[in-house]
Amino acid sequence: MNEAIRSTTLVIRDVLLFDGGGEPPVPSDVAIAGEYITAIGAPGSLAGEHIVEANGLALAPGFIDVHTHDDRALLIPGMMTAKLSQGVTTVITGNCGLSLAPAQMTNVPAPLDLIATPEWLRFPHFADYLAELASSGIAVNAACMVGHTTLRASVMGDSLDRSASEDECSRMRELLEESLAAGAFGFSTGTFYPPARAATLDEIVAVAEPLARYGAFYATHMRNEAEAVLDSLEETYEIGRRLKVRVLISHHKLAGVKNHGRSRETLASIQAARDRQPVSLDCYPYNASSTTLNPAFIARAARVLVSWSTPYPQHAGRLLAEIAAEWGISDEAAAQRLMPAGAIYFMMDEDDVQRILAFPPTMIGSDGMPHDEHPHPRLWSTFPRVLGHYSRELGLFPLHTAVNKMSGLPAAELGIDRRGRIAAGYYADLVLFNPQTVKDSATFAQPRTRAEGIEKVWVNGQLAWDDGGIRHQTAGQVIHR
Ligand code: ZN
Ligand code: CU
Repeated sequence: MNEAIRSTTLVIRDVLLFDGGGEPPVPSDVAIAGEYITAIGAPGSLAGEHIVEANGLALAPGFIDVHTHDDRALLIPGMMTAKLSQGVTTVITGNCGLSLAPAQMTNVPAPLDLIATPEWLRFPHFADYLAELASSGIAVNAACMVGHTTLRASVMGDSLDRSASEDECSRMRELLEESLAAGAFGFSTGTFYPPARAATLDEIVAVAEPLARYGAFYATHMRNEAEAVLDSLEETYEIGRRLKVRVLISHHKLAGVKNHGRSRETLASIQAARDRQPVSLDCYPYNASSTTLNPAFIARAARVLVSWSTPYPQHAGRLLAEIAAEWGISDEAAAQRLMPAGAIYFMMDEDDVQRILAFPPTMIGSDGMPHDEHPHPRLWSTFPRVLGHYSRELGLFPLHTAVNKMSGLPAAELGIDRRGRIAAGYYADLVLFNPQTVKDSATFAQPRTRAEGIEKVWVNGQLAWDDGGIRHQTAGQVIHR
């Protein structure tokens, strides 16, 4: 057999090792061969054919982006630079009810237009989508979920503003079962959004019934993240209990001035629920959200920044209020005129963001919007911002805790096999970074700026990012449930 290749060893020498488990770092050497980590030893103790001298830089497991909309970006060469440049080596796609597959529809209903265009409705079965990821080659590993909104559009056509009939629920359930059998990683809903908000709890439970048999989880952009957030949490727990699966509360936040400070209540609720059933949550490190532009969403926000507009692409990156003033109309009317469009909403309280980030079970997910003309900076800077701004500068938690929230914790909670830790036998997904300089550089004005301090990234043992550039575009693997 392939001894020559197998024995080719790379040693990353003299690193400050953050193993992903949440313990303080230890000076070490790390050896990798092929796609696996093979040994960890004291500095200077390991020999290998190739040596990378790290000179005390930090080495962590490649980051896991728990909440992404990279379903299409994975298939477009170069687009995953936004993630690799931050040290992300695994993404979970299909969030907020939105996935590219299984697509058996002719139109793209909002908010599916955040990720899909009509030409991309070309994966009638989830297996088709996973096969294309594998054959075209992907820059990072991908664990792909099925979106409820996608299933609804496939089964219910254009009549989406109502709950599904029993027959429609069973057809959606069959599509989900077929997707899970093909390797789908989980199932997500986005009942916050019209038209999926017409779905009842019973519809969701009926559709998602196969999850438990596959050991898969349920992720949700909850119905309400404002006044009724506690009701939405209860609904989420109930869905988890009835399905007997883990629930993942996506991008936990409190929207609107009236709800600022209420993370005290929601985190107490989540803590209590975790004592009874498996509940996970993720968060992005910003006090502004980003999604479709909708007149109904703008009242809660102090400011609204347009991130894309089909009829007025020239207005991406501008404040809605400024555009409305120029047109001499209300913000709501201007929003209507700009649609279909996306926006960034400044509507959260920084204290809530920090309290949620610091909550021990909270994992990190970017919720980046890769196809926006003027994206929220979270697309390019989520992970360095947690490491640099929140951990190093504000001292919200130690660096080893920050690393755990983006590696070992999500791998353990969501069942990502042999990733998220630096240990012998694990996949060599690794990020070498400078803990003194790592920093988010993307801003709301300049959102496509690469992070600082990320030196090298390995994906499955291949050097994928080095010295500010892509080295390998296809080292990622599809992670099947
Ligand atoms: Zn969402
Ligand atoms: Cu999302």
